[in-house]
Amino acid sequence: MYIHRSIASLRAALSTTGRIAFAPTMGNLHEGHLSLMRSARAHGDIVVSSIFVNRLQFGPNEDFDRYPRSFDSDCALLEAVGVDHLFAPNESELYPQPQRYNVAPAVEHDAILEGAYRPGHFRGVATVVAKLFNIVQPDTALLGKKDYQQLMIIRNMVRELNMPVDVVGCPTVRSEDGLALSSRNQYLNASQRREAPRLYRLLAGIAASIRSGGCILSELEQSGLDTLKEHGWMPDYVAIRRQEDLGEPAPGDPLIVLAAARLGSTRLIDNIEIE
Ligand code: PAJ
Repeated sequence: MYIHRSIASLRAALSTTGRIAFAPTMGNLHEGHLSLMRSARAHGDIVVSSIFVNRLQFGPNEDFDRYPRSFDSDCALLEAVGVDHLFAPNESELYPQPQRYNVAPAVEHDAILEGAYRPGHFRGVATVVAKLFNIVQPDTALLGKKDYQQLMIIRNMVRELNMPVDVVGCPTVRSEDGLALSSRNQYLNASQRREAPRLYRLLAGIAASIRSGGCILSELEQSGLDTLKEHGWMPDYVAIRRQEDLGEPAPGDPLIVLAAARLGSTRLIDNIEIE
């Protein structure tokens, strides 16, 4: 695997022909990330990943400084899974000056759910992903459904800005007890870690109730919030939305149930699509 610190080095290496499949990350890699790399291998001749902890997408009170960084072991994992090129710029390479030109997602995609609790987050995500797409120029980009709103926003950005990239959403990888893998899980202490899979079980229960029919969606959302509070969580939302754009569902829309909640100081998110 080639490790590129500069845009020039990466561009020179990618100037050969072949379909490029690209999976961007912020590092601290786990099986969820590696599943994207395996899927990239199926979509491209050249597999490119990136590791960059993007300051633009962190709020002032978020965990940018303590976001876990594990570059050497990340490289070993990427190499083992067959990534050809890793782009790992430092901040001055990607942001040589404060970023003045930014990509603002549509308000109706940005001001809801995660965006309502993390103002500016998706603008930071869309901006860095647009930059990375311009640098890597992938044919296909692989993104996880774990971050469903991020995936939806990047799909729409690519469509509305006519970027020639095929965006592929990949299934959420979970540990055996159902907890979605996340770099932030390591902030949990032992008892929080035992409690954490409740989020998935709750979403799975709501999904099962919706599939069996006859439920009032707002009641399911409210009882989900109540259950989390009873068990010591501080929920931000439990929401049943339509899959397409995470708007309020109309009859017949394919649905998804999403939640975000804090356990101690760790904020976890998860979602389940309902067929
Ligand atoms: P990061 O949180 O490192 O995630 C990188 C990619 O891995 C994202 O597409 C995310 O959805 C996916 N991913 C994370 N956990 C997953 C899991 N358990 N199963 C499947 N996929 C999973 O998301 C970001 O970084 C950043 O916002 C980024 C897109 C790199 C822009 O900075």
